[in-house]
Amino acid sequence: MMRSDILYFSENILNWYAVHKRDLPWRAEGCDPYRVVVSEIMLQQTQVPRVIEKYTEFLGKFPTIEGLARASREDVIRAWCGLGYNRRALMLQNFAQEVVQLYEGKIPDNPKVLMILSGVGTYTAGSIASFAFNKPEPAIDVNLRRIYMRFFYGRDQGLPMAKEEEKKLYVLVKSSIPVDKSRDLHNALMDFGSLICLREKPLCRECVLQKQCGFFPLYAVKKEKVLFVREKRVEKGVREKGKHVPNRIFRGRIVEFVRKNASRSLSIDDFGMIIKKDFKGEEREWLLGLCEKLRKEGLIDFVLVRGLITFTFR
Ligand code: ADE
Repeated sequence: MMRSDILYFSENILNWYAVHKRDLPWRAEGCDPYRVVVSEIMLQQTQVPRVIEKYTEFLGKFPTIEGLARASREDVIRAWCGLGYNRRALMLQNFAQEVVQLYEGKIPDNPKVLMILSGVGTYTAGSIASFAFNKPEPAIDVNLRRIYMRFFYGRDQGLPMAKEEEKKLYVLVKSSIPVDKSRDLHNALMDFGSLICLREKPLCRECVLQKQCGFFPLYAVKKEKVLFVREKRVEKGVREKGKHVPNRIFRGRIVEFVRKNASRSLSIDDFGMIIKKDFKGEEREWLLGLCEKLRKEGLIDFVLVRGLITFTFR
């Protein structure tokens, strides 16, 4: 990769960002690392507009990492409601407890150390180091991956990537971070990925990188039609009213039900009809399997007595 390409890339992205940056609550000046962590965990699987709604409310309830560490499981899950993937709420609380116990409440800035903590994978470790501490650590999510692959390699990369390629991409991203600008560059890339370098119909005509982008010539030839093959992974789930619905959605409904109806007893079939519109007797095992898994993860608890199920929060 030519050094001049990398410089062109970072410089133009940052210039674009200076004009077009989104005003997001977790980007406030001097934003404390705990707040960045909360935003990053929320943003892992939830869209920005929904996170904006819940973020301030959550921090209102748990303004400090110590407060979150001390809270009851039930309160944390309640505060998380509406964000989905409730297990993340528990992981975030585990993270808070670990940081309080092991690091006196100070969040580490080293990705290798962060990765040992609950709920933190490669991406999140990089994103905390970069967004919270401005460390030159790549945080490569699907948007970043797409932007770099298009610009530097002229193609759209579907997941998964081979290990070697992943490593090369990591080195490339790292080399593109200007001194003391990791936070800005990452923010810029997030905005660029959701406003310009879109997955389906990228706005190449408006793009400030078009002069050197490897993807632009292809785009220009095909005009509005950008064709590429992407493998779509089908999430595990069942059919509801003729449509495939992921188990994740039913898990959310179960936690929501328990949150609103703790200690109510009802038959498994009645419960099933609440959770799934066209529930049938033969789906009891599937439903109890989901409940059992949620129990193992510590999200709900329940007892089964003579066909009646009674839920409690852990
Ligand atoms: N997605 C993940 N982290 C983000 C951030 N800091 N800003 C916008 N979108 C994000």
